[in-house]
Parts: sequence; structure tokens; C-alpha cells
Amino acid sequence: MFIDILTNFKLSDAQQDLFVSEKNTDKTRIEKINISEVQICKYINEFWTAKQRQANSIHEVSYRACFKPQLPNFFIKHLTKERDYVYDPFLGRGTTVIEAGLLNRQVIGNDINPLSVVLSEPRFLIPDFNELAQYLEEIPFYKGLKADIDLSMFYHPDTESEIVSLRNYISEKELYNNLNSFDKWIRMVATNRLTGHSKGFFSVYTMPPNQAVSSERQIKINEKRNQKPEYRNVKELILRKTKSLIKNISSGKKKQLKKIHKTAIFLNKDAGKTNEIPDSFVQLTVTSPPFLDVVQYAKDNWLRGWFNGINIEKVEKNITMSRTIEEWTEVMQKVFDELYRITKKGGYVAFEVGEVKNGKIKLDEYVVPLGIKSGFKTEGIIINQQTFTKTSNIWGVNNNSKGTNSNRIVLFKKENNQRLGNIRFVKVRT
Ligand SMILES: C[S@@+](CC[C@H](N)C(=O)[O-])C[C@H]1O[C@@H](n2cnc3c(N)ncnc32)[C@H](O)[C@@H]1O
Repeated sequence: MFIDILTNFKLSDAQQDLFVSEKNTDKTRIEKINISEVQICKYINEFWTAKQRQANSIHEVSYRACFKPQLPNFFIKHLTKERDYVYDPFLGRGTTVIEAGLLNRQVIGNDINPLSVVLSEPRFLIPDFNELAQYLEEIPFYKGLKADIDLSMFYHPDTESEIVSLRNYISEKELYNNLNSFDKWIRMVATNRLTGHSKGFFSVYTMPPNQAVSSERQIKINEKRNQKPEYRNVKELILRKTKSLIKNISSGKKKQLKKIHKTAIFLNKDAGKTNEIPDSFVQLTVTSPPFLDVVQYAKDNWLRGWFNGINIEKVEKNITMSRTIEEWTEVMQKVFDELYRITKKGGYVAFEVGEVKNGKIKLDEYVVPLGIKSGFKTEGIIINQQTFTKTSNIWGVNNNSKGTNSNRIVLFKKENNQRLGNIRFVKVRT
């Protein structure tokens, strides 16, 4: 059924209007390849489009190597129904689970980096804006406080004092397990406002918020730009970002997310060892693993780690940073075995990978045998090829040199027949 959808996928009239000049085909292109003696189809089309790019504002929390909400949206809509469980073992900023929550699916999210839960969970518990403003007003901010590390290259002394006041307030409440949904929301927004490239952030001009530069590098940036940190009002910026995050969340959606949160499971484990998730429980996994060692999640998040009292060096030791494809496949095999265990019969795994080393390493083709070895059937490789219009470039979307951007997703299914080791068998009636 789903393959039929992919094969016959056509853009809607409105989408065709938008793409008519760039696209010469509106039908899926199918290429066949052999991997491990199995014939696999690649389905190539623009399955989610620029038109749909305006995802819900609640997603707008930055994180290194996150995918767009349209990706999980496509699979969740087609492969699950309301109240099914949707899972992401490499949660990141929480794109999959938040999109699933918006679509009224139950959710499970896991990431080895504790920052993921800090960023994801609060967005299921969206506060009332006026109540939040009042709550924030009452949090005591002190003058003259300094951080336990030198942050003078990022912040004006008064801003630093406000950040340290907030950090102390949150860490004390956390120590007594006393954080409420306002605190968690404030912590999530503040974590996001720590550093960035506009006046909407607490810091002087620096790299975008998901790539905190080192103190040494920031000193150089300041010298080069001849800049000194100006005062920023922490409470004001938290409220401003809150307003923009919730701008298209209706009160109905807010209630729905709160309800989903009651049954949500958030874990901070290695994706290959998630014993908390029962067998045959999840209808759909939509995920994107760490790709070899191209993204330094811990280094990019050192300041966010500091603010949240997370020992980022310790986290770094556990983050999968494979140097070779062999190392990577070994780790991912364990993840696939675990995904097979927790997936319901008839359920799916959509595993998104990129092209590493400028396309020389096609990770999707390495992923196929891993899924098969764990017991899954490969439904196909879905390549979402996005054509860029001039307007989309103005919106600042990164594209590659050919004016397209692609996501490669290997789709697996856990079939209804049983599996024994690597051999699968079907019960025969006698
Ligand atoms: C490509 S990012 C996922 C981004 C996510 N799709 C999003 O939209 O935000 C990969 C994530 O895997 C996490 N990670 C790395 N090694 C892990 C492991 N062994 N187990 C669980 N999570 C891991 C990293 O912390 C990172 O958040």
C-alpha cells in the first residue's frame, strides 16, 4: 500500500504550480539496485515540498544535524494512526516526537545526550504566556554574579549575572527534583538563547546557536569584528522567543500535547540498550543516527551543557563517533537488533542517512544489510529530492551545489511472520 503511494506519488496542483518551472517530472522515478543479493528499489521524488516547509513554529529550536519536521510528518501520516506509538532512538532536538505529538500519536524519545530531553519534553507542556511572564518575573535575579568559567567574551557582565542567577535557580530546584513545567520551559528557551548571531540571543554576535564556539575562538571573532558584548535582558528575550515558538499552537493542540505527555517515555540511553521499551511496542520509528564523526555534538553543545549542569566530556565518551564505516555499522547493527525487538509486527522503521564524504560513502546502502540481518524486510530507499526555488534560497535554506537537497531514508518493515536468528520462517498449517 505504502509502496503504491510512493510509486504513484504526484504533486498536488498547488505544488505543481509552485514547481512547474523547476520540475520536469511529477512522478516518482524508480531505480533498482542489488544489495547483498537482494533487489532494492530507490524511489526518487519530492515527497515533501517547499510549500509544506512552514512547519509548526513549536519546532523552531536549533540543534546540530536536525531534520525538518516534514520528514517525520510524511512517514507518521502514512504509516501510523492516531494513538500509535512513534519512536526516535536518536532524538536530538525532538523533531520526530514533537511532530508525532502534533499528529496525536503517542511518543518515545531517546538520546545519549541528556540535552535532548531538556529540549524536547517541555514542548509537550506549553505554558500559558501570561502565567509564564508572571512566573518568570518572580524568579530572583541578582547583580554581580559571575560564572565559574570565563564567559566574558560572550556576555555583558550584567547579562552574565542574570544567566548565572537563572542557572542557580534551576539547578537548585533540579537537585530537589522540584522542577515544574514553567521551569522546564524556561530552561529549554534559555538553553536556546545562550549564543547566536542576532540580538535575540543573550550573547554578542557569534555562530548560530547550535554551534557554540570555544572561548578562544570567540575572542578572535570579537577582535575581528571589533565588538564587545552589549547588555541583553534575559527575561525579555525568553518571553520573546516563547511568543514566537507558540505563535501557531492552538489551545486544542496544547491540550493534545499535554495529554500525549502523560504516556510519553523519554530516555537517556545508548540506542542499542533501551530495556525500558517493551517488546513489540512501537508502530513506527523515524530517526537519523550520528553519521561517522562529521558532527561533534558534545563540542557544539559545551555551553548548553554548562548551563544545564551536564558534564559534556562524560557525554562525549558515550556518543557514537565512529571513525570508520566498519565501526559505524557494528554500532548500528546493535541498534537495529533493538529496533527489531521493540517494533510491533507490521510496524516500520524509517532510517534517514546522509551522503558522507561528498557522496563517496552512501550510508543508505550500508544500512540495508543491517536491517535485513536483524530480521526486517526492506521496503525501499526513499530519496526526497528537494528542488530549490529562488524564494527558498532567500529563506536561507542550505542547498548543495546543484540546487537540490536530498534526504535518503531506508524504510524497513517488521513482517507478520516469525524470525529465528537470521532465518525467517512462516508457520505452515498442517
Ligand atoms: C543526527 S542527530 C539526530 C537529530 C534529530 N533527528 C533531530 O531532528 O533533532 C543524532 C543524535 O544521536 C545522538 N547519539 C549519538 N550516539 C548515540 C547513541 N549511541 N545512542 C543514542 N543517541 C546517540 C546524538 O546525541 C544526536 O543527538
